[in-house]
Amino acid sequence: MPTGTTDESAVAEFAADVRSGLGRPGQKELPSKYLYDAIGSALFEVISLLPEYGVTRADERVLRQHAAEIVARVPAPVRVAELGSGTGRKTRSLLEAFARREPTSYFPIEISRAALRMCRRELSDIESIHIVGFEREYLDGLREVAAGREPEERILVLFLGSTIGNFDRPAGVEFLEQVREILEAGDALLLGTDLEKPVAQLVEGYDDPLGITAAFNRNLLARVNRELDADFDLQGYDHVVRYDPEERRIEMHLRARYTQTVTIAKADFTVMIREGETIWTESSHKYSRWEPYRMAKQSGFGCVAQWVDEEWPFAENLLIAE
Ligand code: AVJ
Repeated sequence: MPTGTTDESAVAEFAADVRSGLGRPGQKELPSKYLYDAIGSALFEVISLLPEYGVTRADERVLRQHAAEIVARVPAPVRVAELGSGTGRKTRSLLEAFARREPTSYFPIEISRAALRMCRRELSDIESIHIVGFEREYLDGLREVAAGREPEERILVLFLGSTIGNFDRPAGVEFLEQVREILEAGDALLLGTDLEKPVAQLVEGYDDPLGITAAFNRNLLARVNRELDADFDLQGYDHVVRYDPEERRIEMHLRARYTQTVTIAKADFTVMIREGETIWTESSHKYSRWEPYRMAKQSGFGCVAQWVDEEWPFAENLLIAE
């Protein structure tokens, strides 16, 4: 059974991204979206169970506690589209609340086939929810969902889990603008944002003592080995987590323990990585409580409600397209 990227154009795109990320002068980078193959998605599931990483549970708690209120603010009929559904578990309570009102279509949009499959399995038992999955990039998938809407139908976009935090701040607002362009006035976006908290707590959340996040991070190189026929020595990289107080973000890097030359056969590319040099694999921006209101305004939305988890500061923000 194929577990990763098998179709040719996807392999070519992965190869191109790896080439440009590792070939540039200065800081080497790999896009964080490639963390989520079948193994990476399974490791992220474990991460969300770790006591040190509260993001997913906070998200789930807020949705569970306020599902009825959220549903009440989005008039029927509505089609629900989720950008990056993951396993779908955190979405359950919200979908159940929609199902109690009326039969509702749910469109999970995922680049990870593994996650999409888990999501279908997890949620298919909810009666009155019709699931139509899209294995697509977020905006491409959302365009398809919007193209199929009935005239009186509204769209609610779910962008949960603080995935927005993977974008740097300007790119995050730009992404919201692109979402807004696909929507119509009155459509809604439920945006999850992880809030600022003490640095030590954040660092532990991304550098857990069991080493699960380290494995999640290193799996990116393992995936390059598997799918692009590369020869990264996985033991030759340390998982490094730092907080940048200016940018207010956690960064994950992989730091070479010794100087090595890596060949990535399917990308037709060889690169030297020096001892101590890092490959930047992910950013997770952290937000103030008021920031989502500003981001909404800047991108053509209004933020009409916010629900915050006090146990692990995390905000669910309801944005309405203006
Ligand atoms: C799923 C992107 C929100 O940035 O917190 C967890 C991914 N990386 N631990 C995050 C992640 C390391 C997570 N997001």
